[in-house]
Amino acid sequence: MKFEIVSTSISKVKTDLLVVLLDKELEFGFVEDSKLKTLLDNLRRDFEGKTVKKEYFTRWSEEGIRHVLVFHSLLDSAYNIWEKVKIFSARALGYGKDLNLSNVALLLNGQDGATYLGKVVEGAILGSYTFEKYKKEKNKYLEGLRVTLIVNESSREISARKLSRYSFVSEIVNECREIVNEPGSVVYPEVLADLAQQIGKEYHLKVTVLDEKDLQKQRYTALVSVGKGSIHPPRLISLEYKSAKKSKVKLALVGKGITFDTGGISIKPSEKMLEMKGDMAGGAAVLYTLKAVAQLKPNINVVGIIPSAENFPDANAQRPGDIFVAKNGKSVQVDNTDAEGRLVLIDAFARASELAATHLVDIATLTGSVVRALGQAYAGIMGNNQELIDAVIKSGKNHGENLWQLPLPEEYKDLLKTPYADINNIGGVNGGAITAGLFLQEFTPENTAWAHLDIAGPFMFDKSWKYYKEGATGFGVKTLVDLCERFAGYFPQ
Ligand code: BES
Ligand code: ZN
Ligand code: ZN
Repeated sequence: MKFEIVSTSISKVKTDLLVVLLDKELEFGFVEDSKLKTLLDNLRRDFEGKTVKKEYFTRWSEEGIRHVLVFHSLLDSAYNIWEKVKIFSARALGYGKDLNLSNVALLLNGQDGATYLGKVVEGAILGSYTFEKYKKEKNKYLEGLRVTLIVNESSREISARKLSRYSFVSEIVNECREIVNEPGSVVYPEVLADLAQQIGKEYHLKVTVLDEKDLQKQRYTALVSVGKGSIHPPRLISLEYKSAKKSKVKLALVGKGITFDTGGISIKPSEKMLEMKGDMAGGAAVLYTLKAVAQLKPNINVVGIIPSAENFPDANAQRPGDIFVAKNGKSVQVDNTDAEGRLVLIDAFARASELAATHLVDIATLTGSVVRALGQAYAGIMGNNQELIDAVIKSGKNHGENLWQLPLPEEYKDLLKTPYADINNIGGVNGGAITAGLFLQEFTPENTAWAHLDIAGPFMFDKSWKYYKEGATGFGVKTLVDLCERFAGYFPQ
């Protein structure tokens, strides 16, 4: 797919499909007096009078335009206008593909067109991604597709900037989705570690990988315990980005990197277990955020930390009831080996502390419970610092990634008590997302602002959702990239 920005008058545009977005107040596109303008005026009336309730598609064959496709923001009422624009753009390319049209033009020359141009680009890129690596028949359509963005002469510059920014981040989100969609037997901890090394080499990040021997020696007992049942040994990966400008802020992004979660000895039911190939979605989000950050170069220091293991049952696997002593000296009883995410995360927290992080944001497909509570369209967010939580929520809002805060009530801490150790790794049937958060809180480094994102809902869909086709969404990359970029502004030093 190739994008092109033009500011020619609509009467001179040649395209297979002209896409127009209508809204009651906003003006995305503008057409001079013509047959096309009459069509759009009539359609606007019909949409607003609710006599047209679906997008309008017609063969046009006037001048250079072969087909016309019109959306009105009254459609898809469940979403805000930013999300709608992405959905429309994705759907427009769907028409293009079905009819095998090699040029699609979006009309964004109105006074509000440029404001939404980035979202149009994002919808096109995220919306046309599918995981097809293992299919014999590859989709060739995108290779030949030209997407023309028709803008106002005066907004060419801002449009070009938005195109470059949004296509850059969206492509990275798709790379993240690709790695999450890969089967568990292809992407295991060593593979993630190699990928991190490659990215680090290409974009000048300092990458450190601790292997099983290092982990043993340095007493990363949680990660070692979780990884014991697998033929693929665990890895603790870190990628460090250093700002050229001096900064006192070091933001640690920690992502759960369980490359396959069978549950271990507390094995999961087979139904839907395959989704657990994506139990490294948080880790992948962190990896690809660092890839973006290395190129966007924000004015803060960022370190990505990915504790990676495969959770398998085996004669050597950790057993329910096992106890280990974590790096901070607290003993942990593993009542349920399927609550492994929180275990590997606490070792990554210890690593963040060693690397002197001032702020810590973790992202993890942590609990089924958060999906029960919020459904798939929201990730849960918790933490010990409201300013940081608010900043993350805001970055999420900027990009259509919904985060809903859950409390961390002190009174629930009792649920994690066990007679045999300092803390249990599970807290009973109720409030599972919260007790997982409370568990993590016990291991956050001192004097560190912390926010925890539980993305078990939106990390993957088995049907298409908004502009995403089925499969991994790359949830979190857009939010974390936005957060890194705005961080120096949010938390002035
Ligand atoms: N990876 C799972 C959580 C999960 C479930 C992610 C569904 C995405 C979709 C996690 O390791 C897990 O198994 N959690 C358990 C915790 C329980 C044993 C306390 C859960 O949520 O059932
Ligand atoms: Zn699990
Ligand atoms: Zn898991």
